[in-house]
Amino acid sequence: MVCLVEQAAWARDLAERLLAKPLPRRWAHTQGVAVQAVSLAPILGDEADTLTAAAYLHDIGYSPELVDTGFHPLDGARYLRDVAGADERLCRLVAHHSCAVNEATERDLYDALTKEFAPERRELTDALTFCDMTTGPDGRHLDVHERLAEIHSRYGPDHLVSRSIKTSTPCILAAVDAVETKLRELSDR
Ligand SMILES: [Fe+2]
Repeated sequence: MVCLVEQAAWARDLAERLLAKPLPRRWAHTQGVAVQAVSLAPILGDEADTLTAAAYLHDIGYSPELVDTGFHPLDGARYLRDVAGADERLCRLVAHHSCAVNEATERDLYDALTKEFAPERRELTDALTFCDMTTGPDGRHLDVHERLAEIHSRYGPDHLVSRSIKTSTPCILAAVDAVETKLRELSDR
């Protein structure tokens, strides 16, 4: 079991080990997502460390070391639960990041995902989706609409990921809007 205050540092080390060498671009993206997570500390308070840890871990399911089903949110969450002994909240956040249920449905893995991992609290799930969907593949900050367009052009119109992202778009936009509204409310105070 990992001490909560050390979660982000532990997660960073684990993600670096799994991603940096085999998938350097994915690691660059991951670090950009973590930067976004740190920037949400003013609206998350004590939970900022958990979000930052989840940001580091959200794409570890792409690591060749742990690919199993080929659906990275599920592979990553199972690895965290079964191998890394991670906090349950981290497993849930990774399993459901960026509205993953829609791609799970496309891949016939909806039951596996939802039976094994309940969704985490909405505010945290939205925050992780915001961080992922406002960070490009090279780690640079992107507007959510640029990010959605980038995914569509990277995978092409007929790809399962493009279909899933299309279905997930209202969920993604709602998450980004919820976080941006909170940030605005904070700066207006
Ligand atoms: Fe990501």
